Order: sequence, then structure tokens, then C-alpha cells
Amino acid sequence: MNWRGRDAQQSARADDRTRSRRRRVSATLALTCMLLGAFVSTRAEDAANASPAALIEALLEGREPIGGPFDLTDHGGRRRTDSDFRGKLLLIYFGYTHCPDVCPTELQAMSLALDTLGTTGEAEAVQPLFITVDPARDTPSHLADYVSSFHPRLVALTGEDSAIRKVALAYKVYFARSGPADGDGYTVDHTGFIYLVGTDGRYLGFLPPGTAPEQIAEAIRAHLERPDIRPDRSTGARE
Ligand code: NI
Repeated sequence: MNWRGRDAQQSARADDRTRSRRRRVSATLALTCMLLGAFVSTRAEDAANASPAALIEALLEGREPIGGPFDLTDHGGRRRTDSDFRGKLLLIYFGYTHCPDVCPTELQAMSLALDTLGTTGEAEAVQPLFITVDPARDTPSHLADYVSSFHPRLVALTGEDSAIRKVALAYKVYFARSGPADGDGYTVDHTGFIYLVGTDGRYLGFLPPGTAPEQIAEAIRAHLERPDIRPDRSTGARE
């Protein structure tokens, strides 16, 4: 085969890869939309100028660094940064308390996964975090009320708009208000992946929306069993 032929074949393969990646992205986006209800058109001020497709693609491809530091306030009103949670395997979910059904379903699944692990003592190595994408309504006291209906170990985090935007963007989370611009009657469209972060703060991967509790537990267990990310209990004293 001459170089032209090889070239054409390579570019056909690249096209195939691009197409299959596009299919994967649109399939995931369709799934996410299905789970979230229809997306409203992206408003620049709400989405940090990134479209949901671009963020989901960045997450699926894993080409850009994912995750990073945060400086937020927990549901007890205490300042919490990412380094407070070193030594724990983090399970992070972004959502908001007024979410009609997706967020409660996912938080319930995470809670059930922890209950499963709890029976073998593995849950202690895991810290579930719920980071709000609706800091205007999700005050610490409101979050405290909300998390109490899920898991006793669940820590909810809120913060300044800019801090929430920063951590959401770091995790490639898309979120945007929809519905009436004024008042409290709005909803927030958002992507709903569960993120796994290692005991050293390193991003490990994500679980797609709708992952069953047993699969979440299994993913956690797999990471706990890897010696390089085994929790160091001496540094992981805090919840
Ligand atoms: Ni939600």
C-alpha cells in the first residue's frame, strides 16, 4: 500500500474514532437529558461558557485534568477544603436540594452503597460528598435538613457562586438555571455523574447517572483493594 492509501486508511480510522466518540457523547448526553428532563438552551452566564456536550466530552475523554482543590462550607457551617478529606476515598455528587427526582435517586443509591459496604467496615474509608450547584437556595442549614434524610455520613457543601463554579468546572459539571429567572421557582439542569477521588486527592473516575447501588459499592471496593490508593487511616481521622 502506498503512503496515500495508508494515509486514507488512517484518516478513515480517525474519522471512525471521531464518529464513535461523537456517538458516545451524544448517547451519554441523550441519557443525561432523559434523566434530567430537557435542557434549556445554554446561557453563558450560567454555564461558565461551556456547553453540556463540551463538558461531557471532556469528562468521557479524560484528556483534560479532572477534579482539583475546593474551598467550601459544609452543612454544619464549617469551612472545608479538599485537603480536609485526604485519606478518604471520596464519592462526590453535584446537585441541588430542590431537584425533583434525579438528585434524591442518586443520593439514595450512594447511601445504599455505603450501607452495603458498612456491613464489612469498608464504608469508613469512604467519604460521600454532595456539592450543591444551587448555592443561592442551598444554605448550610437547608443542606443539613436535606442530608439528614439520606446517610449520616453524607457531607453537603455549599459556597460562594464563584467557588461553586470553580469546583463544578474542575469536575466538568454542567449546570444552568432554567425556568423563571426571578424568584425561587427555578430548577437547575445539571449533569449527574458520581465522581471517585482517591485518598491522595487524585481523580480516579466517574460512574454514570443511574448506576445501581451494588455497582457503586463494587467500584468503591475495587479502589479500596488497590494498594496504591489504600486509605491511610492515620491521616483520615476526620469525616
Ligand atoms: Ni438533580
